Amino acid sequence: MIKLCVNIDHVATIREARKTYEPDPIAASREAEHGGADGITLHIREDRRHMQDYDLLKLRKSVKVPLNLEMAATESMVELAIATKPEMVMLVPEGRDEITTEGGLDICGDFDRLKKVIRTLHDASLPVSVFIDAQSQQIEAAKEAGCDVCEIHTGPYAQSIENNDFSLSSQKVDTQIERIHKSIDCVHKFGMQCNAGHGLNYHNVGRVVSLGGLTELHIGHSIVSRCVFVGMQQAVKEMKQRIQEATP
Ligand code: PXP
Repeated sequence: MIKLCVNIDHVATIREARKTYEPDPIAASREAEHGGADGITLHIREDRRHMQDYDLLKLRKSVKVPLNLEMAATESMVELAIATKPEMVMLVPEGRDEITTEGGLDICGDFDRLKKVIRTLHDASLPVSVFIDAQSQQIEAAKEAGCDVCEIHTGPYAQSIENNDFSLSSQKVDTQIERIHKSIDCVHKFGMQCNAGHGLNYHNVGRVVSLGGLTELHIGHSIVSRCVFVGMQQAVKEMKQRIQEATP
């Protein structure tokens, strides 16, 4: 079955809204693990708007499943990754004004710099995933740059459903699904692991899962939103159930 990595950033978003000590992302990660999370993901943004460096240090000590660090490809973040040794570094583009990650990394356009960053991370024995749009040129560039994993951006797929009165079947949704499908095949053709994420929720996750070929899903906002009502363990269990039901 596809693994579910739970992104717990928004637990810290609530905490930072009051600049206080609760809710505690470390407790949230423990609950997510008890609910069946196969990995825990956090994004340390350059503006530290949600997760803080001390969260990463505490999570590194407490999380028992693989810990994934999402980050921009900057010198200071590379230093932080090397010092804390997450199980996987997930490189993402970062914009100061964006509400969440908006698009995939442009590996073709920033090739030499990203290749160097990936080499530095590899020298520290850290596997590297890149978050990219569902485009074959980006996948090919990811391979040439030395990436281990591509995470395909499912945001446009999620948006196409929202724009279509939440219907899962329309020409536009089918087009997005087809793009993701082709990208999964392309990532495998180049011998890399294929993950997916962004904008996935309890309603839309099934069509992505049913494509097959994905190793991990990275899901945050919808699980943290659901956990407000049912608790983190149950929210994770329900997502795992959706994934299981749609597994081909
Ligand atoms: N994958 C990446 C690379 C992301 O940047 C995010 C958002 O932090 C996610 C997955 C999770 O997206 P969402 O919060 O929409 O589930």
